[in-house]
Amino acid sequence: MTARLRHLGPVVVAALLSAGCASTITVDLASPSVTPETGPTRPVATSIPDEPRPTATPTLDPQPGAAGVGDPYFPDLGNGGYDVARYVVALTWDPTTREVTATTHVEATATQDLSSFNLDLHGLVVDEVAVDGVTASYRRDLDEMTITPATPLATGTRFVTTIDYHGQPRAVPMGGVPIGGWFDDGDTVYVAGEPSGAQTWFPVNNHPSDRAFLRVELTVPDGLTAVANGRFVGTEPAADNHTTWVYETTDTLAPYLITLAIGDFVEVDGGDVDGVQIRSWFERSVAGEAARFAAIADGVRVFGRLFGPYPFEAYGVLVVDASLGGALETQTLSIFGTDFLDRGADITDVVVHELAHQWFGDDIALAQWDDIWLNEGFATYSEYLYREQVEPLFDIDTAMADLAALDPAVVALPVPGDPGPDQLFAAAVYLRGALTLHALRRTIGDNAFFTTLRHYVETFGSANVVTSDFTGIAEEISGQRLDDFFEAWLHEESLPPLPGS
Ligand code: TRP
Ligand code: ZN
Repeated sequence: MTARLRHLGPVVVAALLSAGCASTITVDLASPSVTPETGPTRPVATSIPDEPRPTATPTLDPQPGAAGVGDPYFPDLGNGGYDVARYVVALTWDPTTREVTATTHVEATATQDLSSFNLDLHGLVVDEVAVDGVTASYRRDLDEMTITPATPLATGTRFVTTIDYHGQPRAVPMGGVPIGGWFDDGDTVYVAGEPSGAQTWFPVNNHPSDRAFLRVELTVPDGLTAVANGRFVGTEPAADNHTTWVYETTDTLAPYLITLAIGDFVEVDGGDVDGVQIRSWFERSVAGEAARFAAIADGVRVFGRLFGPYPFEAYGVLVVDASLGGALETQTLSIFGTDFLDRGADITDVVVHELAHQWFGDDIALAQWDDIWLNEGFATYSEYLYREQVEPLFDIDTAMADLAALDPAVVALPVPGDPGPDQLFAAAVYLRGALTLHALRRTIGDNAFFTTLRHYVETFGSANVVTSDFTGIAEEISGQRLDDFFEAWLHEESLPPLPGS
């Protein structure tokens, strides 16, 4: 978990460098309208796909799907040969054995003729696998599960894979990389798994490039509360004094942005802000801390004006009474541990950091993990943009100069453009990433900079990006060639001087 702990660096540094936070907004805020998103219209997972699957013909050339999507940092994450449309995870939690008994339906479309395909799954016992209701054979090799359907799948076929499994989900590092995922503190359980933890609790195409809708049905003993991303659909009584809690996302999301928690939680209604429903869940023992997250409402307004309307229908925080090693921008419901709550410190920076990730990281998602600065640099700079908007006396140039003056071992290296898989969340990814954006702003001017941000969100919202998608827009809007600029800021060892300093 070293990389996770490293995350504490930048937010703490940012907090130390920032002046006190004013409680009111002084700018005149427009009210952006939120476009209603259409939900998934496909049939429920258990139904048979619309079109009958073509039986294997001589014209098919079925091949095994690849065991990874070819990510430069994590070659085994994700899989080739299909695209997931939706996951439906029905999971029963037993607080006595600490085990889950679950069925995951994976609704997907074949993107090649498939003789077999892989899903990522870490640990757990698989009981049965079926494709379109027909038992399929499977084999497991560490975190790769290879499924061979009874008949091959032709390109373009929609198919549903059903996996029944059970066991104690376990989060352990894989090859030095923090996998995270399902955590059990002996009382509450919760999920926080960037970059790879999703596969600790359900079979998944575990890469941000395959975004999918999600429905979770969490069955827990009466008296426990189950929380997950997205829209609360409702509860249904289940056998033996259990209740099933159902959540469904209205937008697609990357697997690492899924969260859930089971325990004693209370919901805190934050009302409607610019058409966004604000709702949070606090573990009862920390429910008294809710007021410290008050920046959410102002943040939705401020960032809505700077970046474009908040991209989803709801937002809030899920606060668990456990040390998480940071906070994670899980989509529509960022998960926080008690790490930041100690000693009553101002947590505005981290609150708005996770909110900003909803635009940068969640709505605009990575295509490859080596572009992590597109998430962390943007969310970190957003902490400063927020202060600039709400604190009349905040001087962002001074704040950035202070950052740039930190020890180069902290702020400059590893280079944010290619930090390496073990240093994905190193402080420099956050800090030098933020400095890169400030340097860009001082190079192309406020107008071009903020227009670039809005165009970037407008163009790549609900899509996946690489760094050149952003830098291309900056060049187009500014009319300047910026390849040397970005090369120096993102890839050269020494930290360039901030323009004008
Ligand atoms: N993306 C998180 C942030 O900066 C940091 C993070 C990465 C994290 N992996 C994690 C936090 C796992 C908690 C658990 O906002
Ligand atoms: Zn972050």
